[in-house]
Amino acid sequence: MASVSIQQVKKRFGMVEILHGVDIEIADGSFTVLVGPSGCGKSTLLRMIAGLEQISDGEVRIGARRVNELAPKQRDIAMVFQNYALYPHMTVRDNMAFSLMLAKLDPAAIEAKVGRAAAILGLNELLQRYPRQLSGGQRQRVAMGRAIVRDPQVFLYDEPLSNLDAKLRVAMRTELKELHQRLKTTSIYVTHDQIEAMTMGDQIVVMKDGRIEQKGSPLELYDTPANMFVAGFIGSPAMNFLPGTLRRRGGATEVELADGTRLPAPHDSLGADGQPVVFGTRPEHLALTAEGGIATEVAVVEPTGADTFVACRHAGRELAVVFRDRQSFAPGSTIRLQPDLRRAHLFDAGSGRRLAA
Ligand SMILES: Nc1ncnc2c1ncn2[C@@H]1O[C@H](COP(=O)(O)OP(=O)(O)OP(=O)(O)O)[C@@H](O)[C@H]1O
Ligand SMILES: [Mg+2]
Repeated sequence: MASVSIQQVKKRFGMVEILHGVDIEIADGSFTVLVGPSGCGKSTLLRMIAGLEQISDGEVRIGARRVNELAPKQRDIAMVFQNYALYPHMTVRDNMAFSLMLAKLDPAAIEAKVGRAAAILGLNELLQRYPRQLSGGQRQRVAMGRAIVRDPQVFLYDEPLSNLDAKLRVAMRTELKELHQRLKTTSIYVTHDQIEAMTMGDQIVVMKDGRIEQKGSPLELYDTPANMFVAGFIGSPAMNFLPGTLRRRGGATEVELADGTRLPAPHDSLGADGQPVVFGTRPEHLALTAEGGIATEVAVVEPTGADTFVACRHAGRELAVVFRDRQSFAPGSTIRLQPDLRRAHLFDAGSGRRLAA
């Protein structure tokens, strides 16, 4: 196992710069998730760590070694891709053994490594099958097995679950997390699924347009997003954003929304009187109130059994609410919602940055 250090890494394809100087420190044995919208550069960064793309500028270290100039196979990493590309004409056993055979390991050692990986992944019964005889989840496990047998310093995953159906994804997510708890191999995992990021990562790195927007633990990102992009990206359903104006009168700081509603600003808010701001409140942090709060019109009520999801409208915008119990409202009726101010967020409307001390 090893730490990974990414320092001021840039990537250019011809004249076009795709990554603009990325810094990430990845602790030995940790699980780091790279998330961000399509095209932001996640795969490119992962491929640069793997040695499949040249590093245009900056440095990547694995453990104490600078690896910029090393070939992929000298880096002691194993990568699992979205389309795991098993060899169709080889059995599960041979798919897992193949890289070890190429490395000319002796047969007894290969047998032991494949046996161990098969046991960890529950593949013992399937070793003689061919990929076409496996389900999607089983194939994904074989792809994992190919990575595990190599006992690498670092696992790199590029959206390994995105070809699986929703139920299998959730099951494999748990398996992967368990696998990491067991093996403790430093892992870097790319996804654009924020739930995967939240549930699997020790550290989440949120990227956009080739830059890091924020990095931190899942709960740091959820509790104190640095800007509206991260606030809207992390958390599901997504945070509600209500545009307004900051009003400072005497000791009181309020946000005046578009329809004139006034809400106390979160206690540690920065910003000047009259400044255009955006008030952010998560769907799970709104409660019914008889008076005050935000008056909204109920559009759609969706009971899930455990929760009730309600889409409301306020000043021409949708406002999502999740109640952790059963509620029924008539569409078109008015309900008042009180945001939990200790968990509300204030952003500068221009830059999108968080306005908090
Ligand atoms: N070989 C290449 N030549 C030129 N441009 C490239 C090349 N590979 C990737 N790009 C560009 O680099 C940017 C980042 O691509 P990348 O594949 O890293 O995105 P991503 O974050 O992994 O997206 P996705 O979530 O869709 O997989 C994109 O604009 C892409 O078009
Ligand atoms: Mg990608």
